[in-house]
Amino acid sequence: MSRSERKWDHIRFALEKRQNHSSAFDDIKFIHQSLPNIGVIDVGLDHEIGGLYLSSPIFINAMTGGGGEKTYRINKQLAIVAKNTGLTMAVGSQMAALKDKSQKYTYEVVRKENPTGVIIANLGSEASADQAKAALEMIEADALQIHLNVIQELTMPEGDRDFSGALKRIETIVKEIKVPVFVKEVGFGMSKEAVNSLTSIGVKIVDVGGSGGTNFAEIENKRREKSLSFFNNWGIPTSVSILEASSVSKNLSVIASGGFMSGHDIAKGLAIGADAVGIAGYFLKILVEDGIEALQKEIEALHLELKMIMTALGAKTILDLKKAPLIISGETYHWLNQRGIDTKQFAQRSIK
Ligand code: FNR
Repeated sequence: MSRSERKWDHIRFALEKRQNHSSAFDDIKFIHQSLPNIGVIDVGLDHEIGGLYLSSPIFINAMTGGGGEKTYRINKQLAIVAKNTGLTMAVGSQMAALKDKSQKYTYEVVRKENPTGVIIANLGSEASADQAKAALEMIEADALQIHLNVIQELTMPEGDRDFSGALKRIETIVKEIKVPVFVKEVGFGMSKEAVNSLTSIGVKIVDVGGSGGTNFAEIENKRREKSLSFFNNWGIPTSVSILEASSVSKNLSVIASGGFMSGHDIAKGLAIGADAVGIAGYFLKILVEDGIEALQKEIEALHLELKMIMTALGAKTILDLKKAPLIISGETYHWLNQRGIDTKQFAQRSIK
């Protein structure tokens, strides 16, 4: 199967599968405040991450490119939405275009459509520093994502089987690249051990890419003769992974992704430690099924939901929201307890 056919398979299967939405956010509850003392008009959603100024904490996460005309069209439409809504956008892995120059146009369209927006390049951890520089140059990117996708590769029939040396390669890229480098998972979450290893080599931004949304084990299992079904329920739920990653260092920017579909979950993700929230599968489904305008409307609705929740909590800024008191219960509480992560700090803090 060619790389372009595989890219299209990913999109097709991601759209087919209803998101299972078990990202464990139900275990997190905000504590209601009767006297927030602010209005919706006072709430601002802009935020800064590792030197990047974002007008919204929500961004379009890495999806596609490199699969010919169909992926060109999706990237073009996503770029138009990003431009019209002010959202940051990441492209899918650019390795396809580094290996086959005829695919470059499927990524370049993103910068063409959105000349002044914040755009993020994307490669896997097999990439060299020179490849990273070429990927950045291809779309004049403002930052680089390096994805870690061990479970996806293992489940992919034609996938990689050797993951040695990834940390060393990431270290070299972080040292040689001038723009911010995000290291991201693709739906299996990051443990605090993984995040610790990344911070030890100078990584300052991680995207936890937790389980609960697009499930690449299920997608790749559909392409296998004999399913590795045990990987279908593998991984760390998004909310748990945000809490694991945030426990590692105060100097780390944590990005949340994996299963976000509502303003309520986005608010919870930010409140438990994330600085921004990436959305992939949910946005793709709306775009492909209902078009550009429907996706723009949904993004506006998410912004409004987030502002309503922040108003109710008395949070004027994302930094305020990160101080809103909340309760962590259920399985998430037990997980954090066993992992030595303090949950009381969230229940006993306050915005004022
Ligand atoms: C992805 N994702 C992804 N990530 C990445 O770093 N490079 C890539 O090329 C791709 N490709 C890709 C294709 C498709 C069709 C989807 C839906 C997703 C993963 C994506 O960025 C994100 O980490 C996960 O999808 C989890 O987020 P959601 O989909 O649950 O919001």
